[in-house]
Amino acid sequence: MRNVNPVYASLGTTVFETMSRLARQHQAVNLGQGFPDDRGPEDVLALAAEQILQGSNQYPPMLGLTELRQALASHAKRFYGLDVDWESETMVTSGATEALAATIFALVEPGDEVVLIEPFYDAYLPLVQRAGAVPRFISLKPPHWRLERADFQAAFSPRTKAIIVNNPMNPTGRVFDAAELALIAEFAEGADAFVIADEVYEHIVFDGAIHRTLLGQPGLRERTIKLGSAGKTFSLTGWKVGYVTAAPRLLGLIAKAHQFLTFTTPPNLQAAVAFGLSKPEVYFRDLAADMQRRRDRFIEGLHRLGLDVLLCEGTYFANVEIGRLGIEGTDEAFCRMLVERYGVAAIPVSAFYSARPVNSVIRFCFAKQDAVLDKALEKLAGLARSREAV
Ligand SMILES: Cc1ncc(COP(=O)(O)O)c(C=O)c1O
Repeated sequence: MRNVNPVYASLGTTVFETMSRLARQHQAVNLGQGFPDDRGPEDVLALAAEQILQGSNQYPPMLGLTELRQALASHAKRFYGLDVDWESETMVTSGATEALAATIFALVEPGDEVVLIEPFYDAYLPLVQRAGAVPRFISLKPPHWRLERADFQAAFSPRTKAIIVNNPMNPTGRVFDAAELALIAEFAEGADAFVIADEVYEHIVFDGAIHRTLLGQPGLRERTIKLGSAGKTFSLTGWKVGYVTAAPRLLGLIAKAHQFLTFTTPPNLQAAVAFGLSKPEVYFRDLAADMQRRRDRFIEGLHRLGLDVLLCEGTYFANVEIGRLGIEGTDEAFCRMLVERYGVAAIPVSAFYSARPVNSVIRFCFAKQDAVLDKALEKLAGLARSREAV
């Protein structure tokens, strides 16, 4: 057989697949996969259904439906005070993942360096490698997962073409503060690098914190590509509707990559997302408040079991330090044990690293119904009891 592309040939079965398979096999509560088990907003669902029957089902415009692009520009003004020209600065994609691929393929050349912040969303590395670029890593460490100047100094070089920043951050649950965002801006400007801002969890921030988009940071407006996802904002991850906001020169190039990836995205879903993005403020507040309530329910339960839970400022994810549990082995071995013996699936955070893995933290997704979270806590009580017995 002829050789195939090594980037994909070298990818094995991911730990996400392994944990989901084990969860099915052991009829476990699956808090591994990062998706909410809600239905999503009924009015958005109804509009999508109605549009299938009454609207057009032919190719929509390559850049997206006008109404959705206008809604994106209004959303940028409403939440971030940004003036965005919908015609030259917005584009709709098939999920944030396609937006990432189009952005990386459009901006990065073979031999460029791209800075990734570990632990990172798993799609980043193969996309960067497939573009022929060299990844450079900034490795965050628990319990604070803070961006530090020394790590930026080590990762940036004259060959740095871009940095990918996920904020609010999966899997750490961090929402970067003003000082950290200023650090990103300083180094991106210094290296004349692009900032690929994966902000899919922009509306899932807690405790009154505010999400600041990198697109609005001083010095970053012309070099930042902001990516979003209706999947997260409307709890409809299967829809795979994403969006890109960037200065006209960048957006134009990214659109050229997008036209030969998916070209477009189902029109009924776009119309429904346009309606969703135009919802009154209360929708967005309630989304965050509801996720915060679930976070609190789950995290309080974990605390009661004596587990070491890390701070969670946003996203769907709560992390537990297993280092002090006195259990031998890595986070991956721990997750296997958890699903096989106690019937709860989680994800080892080492799976989100490439260079210098942290293997003492596991990630749970709390974007689930109360009954599911309670069931998981009940099962985890077995773990707490077994620790008391030793
Ligand atoms: C950080 C991050 N970026 C991107 C995505 C993908 O978004 P989409 O489903 O819109 O492609 C996810 C989904 O889990 C994510 O967690």
